[in-house]
Amino acid sequence: MKVYRLYGTSHEGGGPIKLDPSGWLVAREHEMRHQAWKGGVRVPTPARRVEDMFSMRCLGNDHGHAPRPQDTKLDEPEAFVGNVIDGARALSKAGAAHTDLSAFNILVHEDGPWFIDLSEAVRVGRTGYSPWVRPTKARELLDSGLGAVSKCFGKYGLKMDVDGIADGIVGSLDRSGVMR
Ligand SMILES: Nc1ncnc2c1ncn2[C@@H]1O[C@H](COP(=O)(O)OP(=O)(O)OP(=O)(O)O)[C@@H](O)[C@H]1O
Ligand SMILES: [Mg+2]
Repeated sequence: MKVYRLYGTSHEGGGPIKLDPSGWLVAREHEMRHQAWKGGVRVPTPARRVEDMFSMRCLGNDHGHAPRPQDTKLDEPEAFVGNVIDGARALSKAGAAHTDLSAFNILVHEDGPWFIDLSEAVRVGRTGYSPWVRPTKARELLDSGLGAVSKCFGKYGLKMDVDGIADGIVGSLDRSGVMR
């Protein structure tokens, strides 16, 4: 279960400030996960949302929750990175660009990567932004997200062609050819 904090305080003093008055942030994360899940992406299966909290499948086993890539030893790092790239492609295809993609928001479960924390995900599918903004936005997000993933897997001596992968994904989103 993920619970969003309802109130925060400011360094400038004063009383608590309501952070998400209409529940938009929590609703958005829940919806984006649902959209990614429907598109076949490895995200925790969404369950229910009630006010500022939602439930989803818990990834892990009897020994605890699934670790992040940097907290465990990957048996086949190359295959794992390949699956991360496939996952980023599948997410975009499902219309959800992960704006906070990094090794901190990936869990290792059943030998593969699972994507979590879609709290700031952006819609890039047909119903998202206009045809021009959609691929531009996706490109920006993919460059930073894939760059962060590539940095983390550098320790395995793996190099990722971030530009090439992002080009491929954005090309497939750009149905109107505005980026060409
Ligand atoms: N479905 C899940 N199954 C198991 N563990 C999970 C799941 N979702 C999240 N976690 C655990 O909770 C942590 C925080 O989740 P998440 O990234 O969604 O929240 P957050 O508020 O963005 O926190 P942070 O600021 O640490 O990123 C993850 O690093 C992971 O350890
Ligand atoms: Mg997170």
